[in-house]
Amino acid sequence: MKAIRIHENGGPEVLRYEDCELPPPAAGEARVRHTAIAINFSDVNVRRGGFYIANPQRYPLILGNEAAGVVTALGTGATGVAAGDRVAYVGTGGPFYEATGSYADERNVPARCLLKLPEGSSEPLAAALLLKGLTAAMVINRVYTPKPGDTLLIHAASSGVGLLLTQWSKHLGATVIGTVGSPEKARIARAHGCDHTILYRETNFVEAVKKIVPRGVSAVFDGVGKDTFMASIDCVRRFGMLVNYGNASGHVPPVDLLLLAKKGSLSVSRPAFSTYIEEPGEFQSASSELFDLVRRGVLKVEISRSYPLSDAAQAHRDLESRKYAGSLILVP
Ligand SMILES: NC(=O)c1ccc[n+]([C@@H]2O[C@H](COP(=O)([O-])OP(=O)(O)OC[C@H]3O[C@@H](n4cnc5c(N)ncnc54)[C@H](OP(=O)(O)O)[C@@H]3O)[C@@H](O)[C@H]2O)c1
Repeated sequence: MKAIRIHENGGPEVLRYEDCELPPPAAGEARVRHTAIAINFSDVNVRRGGFYIANPQRYPLILGNEAAGVVTALGTGATGVAAGDRVAYVGTGGPFYEATGSYADERNVPARCLLKLPEGSSEPLAAALLLKGLTAAMVINRVYTPKPGDTLLIHAASSGVGLLLTQWSKHLGATVIGTVGSPEKARIARAHGCDHTILYRETNFVEAVKKIVPRGVSAVFDGVGKDTFMASIDCVRRFGMLVNYGNASGHVPPVDLLLLAKKGSLSVSRPAFSTYIEEPGEFQSASSELFDLVRRGVLKVEISRSYPLSDAAQAHRDLESRKYAGSLILVP
């Protein structure tokens, strides 16, 4: 099979398109021929040097944690799926950022980690939606559920997760203020329901938010991290909530709890999507909710660009240069 492997950490240039051996599926595994592979920001973090890796990386390693495709073979005792089933997975059951291997034509995956795709849901849609949608679902269902009367601040509102949070929050009746990196991203965020956009690379977003909602927003959903989180504290109303779900610009520095008291008795949450689907059956039920929201037109999944698997390095360059909105995928 062909795969994108790294032999060392570094920039996009360390991604190599190589021939590799794939053993037959082991007991309990299914072989999946990938037809759409998700690109996630975490892939960049793994490539750069294991932002999240507790154990040292072993090279060469195939990047990626999420893909969709078709089951082609089963190991002994693999149940729940059959050859020919269209499936998707997000992680393979172990520590998420360590069990990589989806940037490849094919992969053996524990059958219990596979989700059968509903009729009418394409494989590219599943690859573009699942991890990002589960993250949005976790924020909205478990951390802060927007409601009519709320005004929210969503950073990088046109990002993969940001667009889903924006649409879902609007559906629940909230007003959404979104920060965005360019006028084109502002247009896309507005087309997905964002009420106000702020070009936060050139405008002081705290002042801009205060002009729209002087008392402050009910909650901030922040996947940018280092460059936005601390200033966001000044955008929140009393007893409001700050959710930091990602670190696209780097990690947030340690937060002084007393500062939260001084700034209006605020709450802070730093959730990880893997917690959201950790119990048996939760991946299936949470994914069903997402596909249902897509089917009902509540969530529109924006695939800005598909790249051949061999062009993964270009896809990483584009992701890091913040060029596109929505999701990017690789196609073997
Ligand atoms: N907690 C979890 O379990 C979980 C799950 C999924 C994702 N995440 C994390 O959430 C974050 C967002 O994910 P995503 O899929 O929405 O990412 P994405 O589509 O790649 O978008 C990231 C956006 O962040 C903004 N940004 C600001 N500073 C940046 C920088 N220095 N480098 C790159 N982008 C920067 C850019 O938007 P503008 O151009 O508009 O500024 C960019 O488009 C990532 O850090 C990801 O790892 C966490």
